[in-house]
Amino acid sequence: MDSKVAVIGGTGVEMVGEAIGIDTPFGWVEAKDGEVAGDGLLFIPRHGEVHLPPHRVNYRALLWAAKAWGARRVISTNTVGSMSWHPVGSYVIPDDFVDFTKSRASTFFEEEAVHVDLTAPYCPEVRRVLVDGAKAASGLVSGGVYVCTEGPHLESPAQIRMLRRFGDVVGMTGYPEVVLARELELCYASICIVTNPAAGMRKDSMSAAEITAEMERSSGLLMEIIAAAASKIPEERGCSCGRALAEARL
Ligand code: HPA
Repeated sequence: MDSKVAVIGGTGVEMVGEAIGIDTPFGWVEAKDGEVAGDGLLFIPRHGEVHLPPHRVNYRALLWAAKAWGARRVISTNTVGSMSWHPVGSYVIPDDFVDFTKSRASTFFEEEAVHVDLTAPYCPEVRRVLVDGAKAASGLVSGGVYVCTEGPHLESPAQIRMLRRFGDVVGMTGYPEVVLARELELCYASICIVTNPAAGMRKDSMSAAEITAEMERSSGLLMEIIAAAASKIPEERGCSCGRALAEARL
């Protein structure tokens, strides 16, 4: 049965459920055990109770916990700045990514040569239900390339002029989750909320408070989209995410 879903919730996202702790080889993960439409749903707050900054998040523990709990599908939420035309408050369901992080543990295979295929880095089945759900809820939804920076500082205008050649939206938390999920043969897709135009794409400066405020405005609808999407994911997996390791070893 592949129907159990984990949600890795970013800034400003909350879900109800029984508080549980999951032990992993990478550390302890606090989560909430809930359900949607009769199926299990695990909510994992990415930043934990103390709100760890993006470069300190224990990404391996989060993905490991999702799998250990029984999830085979993972939906993640991320805030992003737009490096293109996206209105604030709109949704981007990335179809590809570029990594500009610097210091993050980004594999479960430290000793072994394992090279997972990332031709389709985000699960097409989970993407589809998120795109449909976001369209039905708001209409303002697109695909695009997610560029992940290390943070914790926001970017400079020159950095954004460079990064916009590589992708559409910029955030700090989408990588390495996407590749770690693939290494665990989990289906993974992200729903990004555009909280601001990226640095230099408007006249005034910006603030972290502005990102949080936009996220708070959007989080109710976002959770409704996720709950509806989770209940529509096909019971059995028709994608190839579950076979990611079959030909990945040298
Ligand atoms: N840059 C990086 N991360 C972000 C941004 C941004 O402009 N907005 C929300 N998360």
